[in-house]
Amino acid sequence: MKSLLFVPADNERKLAKAVACGADALAFDLEDSVLPARKALARQMLVDYLKTYAGSSEVWIRVNDLASGETLADLAAVIGSGPVGIVLPKIFGPECLERVSHYLDMAEIAAGRPLGSTAILAVCTETPAAVLRMGELLKKPIPRLRGMLWGGEDLSSAMGAGDPRAEDGRWRPVYEHARSQCLLACHALGVEALDTVYVDFRNPDGCRANSQAARYDGFTGKIAIHPDQVPIINAAFTPAEEEIAFAQRVIAAFDSGAGAVSLDGKMLDIPHLKAARRLLAAAGR
Ligand code: COA
Ligand code: MG
Repeated sequence: MKSLLFVPADNERKLAKAVACGADALAFDLEDSVLPARKALARQMLVDYLKTYAGSSEVWIRVNDLASGETLADLAAVIGSGPVGIVLPKIFGPECLERVSHYLDMAEIAAGRPLGSTAILAVCTETPAAVLRMGELLKKPIPRLRGMLWGGEDLSSAMGAGDPRAEDGRWRPVYEHARSQCLLACHALGVEALDTVYVDFRNPDGCRANSQAARYDGFTGKIAIHPDQVPIINAAFTPAEEEIAFAQRVIAAFDSGAGAVSLDGKMLDIPHLKAARRLLAAAGR
C-alpha cells in the first residue's frame, strides 16, 4: 500500500470524506484521535458506518493499545465488520503481537469470520522497549503481520522529551535511529514499511519532498492525516516514467550475460539489476 489515511472514527464528516479520497487504505482510528469519553461512541459510529461502506480503499482499524484496557472491547466490536486488518499501536515487543493474534483468533470465531483473516500493521517505535527489541521480531514470525509503521511523537512523550524534530525540521538522532530500525526490521521480515506522518498538512511541497525521500530510503508507503496528502503520497510512491525507462535500460544492459556491465560510463553489477527489476515490479511492469 502506498497511502494509509488516518480517519478519526468519531467524526461523521471525516468518515464521509474518507470514502472517495483515493487512499490505498484507510485506518479508522479508535485510539489517540478519540477522547477517552468517546471510545464507545466511536466504536458504534464506525460499526454503523462500515455496514454501508462501499469505497475501494482497504479498511483498517487502529485499535487502542494493550495498556489502555480498551483493546478487547475494540476487537469484540469491530472484527464482525470484516476489516482487512487492525493497526496495533504502542507495542513493547513480539509478545504484544502474539497476544493480539490470539485475541483476533477468538474475535474472528465469535464473529463468524475465517480464522486468521485479519492482518496486523504494528506501530513499532512508540515505546523505548519496542525500539530496543525490534530484532526479536525476527525470531518469532507473526503470520498476521502485514507491515509496520513508525512514529516519533509517542516515543518522545514516553521519554518525557521535547519536540522530536530539530529546528531545521530533521528528526533528532534517537528518532532517526527508530526510523532506521523500523525500516530494517520490515525488510528483514519481508513486510510493508510505512513512513510516519508529515504533520504540516497545509504544505504540499514539503509533503512531496518528504514522501519522495521516504521512498528513496526504502519505505513502501506512507501515512496520511489529511485527504490532501493522499494524491501527493500516491504519486511520490509511484515510479516516474524516467525511472522506469532507466530501469529498462539497466536490464537491457545485462543482455550480454555478463555480471558487470557499463551504462552511461558507470559500472553496473547485480545489485543494480535487482533494483531495476524491483522498480519495474513496483510499477506493475
Ligand atoms: N480523514 C477524512 N477527512 C478528513 C480528514 C481525515 N483525516 N482530515 C480532514 N478531512 C476533511 C474535513 O472533514 C473537511 O471536509 P468537510 O469540509 O466536508 O468537513 C476537509 O477534509 C478539509 O479539512 P480541513 O478543514 O482542511 O482540515 P480540518 O481542520 O477539518 O482537520 C485535522 C485537520 C488535522 C484535525 C484532520 O486532518 C485530522 O483529524 N486528521 C487525522 C488525525 C488523526 O487521525 N491522527 C491520528 C493518527 S496520526
Ligand atoms: Mg500516537
